[in-house]
Amino acid sequence: MSITFEQVGRTFAGKAEGIALSPPCDAGTIQTILAALDRFGVVVLAGQKMTPDEQIAFSEQLGPLENSDEGNPKYRKLREDMKYTDQRVSEISNLVDGATILGATDMRRIFQYANQFWHADSTFRPVRARYTFLQAILVPRDGGDTEFADMATACEELPQALREEAEGLIGIHSPRTIMDHLGATRPDQGGFFSELPDQPRPIIETHPGSGRQVLNIGSHLSHIEGMPMPEGRALIAALREHACDPRYRYRHRWTPGDLVIWDNRSTLHRACRYRENDQPRQLVRTLVEDR
Ligand code: OGA
Ligand code: MN
Repeated sequence: MSITFEQVGRTFAGKAEGIALSPPCDAGTIQTILAALDRFGVVVLAGQKMTPDEQIAFSEQLGPLENSDEGNPKYRKLREDMKYTDQRVSEISNLVDGATILGATDMRRIFQYANQFWHADSTFRPVRARYTFLQAILVPRDGGDTEFADMATACEELPQALREEAEGLIGIHSPRTIMDHLGATRPDQGGFFSELPDQPRPIIETHPGSGRQVLNIGSHLSHIEGMPMPEGRALIAALREHACDPRYRYRHRWTPGDLVIWDNRSTLHRACRYRENDQPRQLVRTLVEDR
């Protein structure tokens, strides 16, 4: 099957319409999609309407899947009120059992507030996510888009002084960084906690598929190794402000059945706000590990 991608962002993001994949796909189709991910960073496959099982089968053709549970019974329990309970999919939704709106203090809501900060998935885990697959089931009437930022072009266009500061530095990633920012680590508010150790990752790295340098500066990045915390955080803020400038962004407005795949090594993303107390939003996510 031949798939044609049209670039939909200013510097990245490709979209293919009019092909409905039926997994498992042939090797040529998988090669085409992998090449598109290297080239575009974000790939929109409109009109898929895969079942969660089909999405698992398709995602698995691009690599081993992450089991998204934190390994903590408190978080594993969150899955019980989701419509899709397989540990290889996560349901990104504001719904209990796919039907009623989540309670205001539900931990799943807190994880979705965390998604509103520019990030790459699972950089706080020992094995980060290489690809994320997100498919829309229910889309709110207003808002609820997902925005992406191109870390390859942003890296190429780094002001020289910032590049010199950032070269060779190692960033320390932790799931606590955003949670602290949200005030969600306070014991009196339910107290997010994680046993995952800090993860060191280079601030600038070379993408193996495109050969381009990319910035690794999502919001799970806490500080810079060997640098005083405030100095590191100020530098991270300057890098992120440059890299997430509107000129490096693509904003995806969801239609049910859209499957968007992104490369977490070359892009950042964030969830856009919507009226979560009265409009249902439900997406199904799978993650391919970076190994
Ligand atoms: C995610 C994520 C963004 C969104 O699922 O990893 O960040 O728009 N989602 O829901
Ligand atoms: Mn994410």
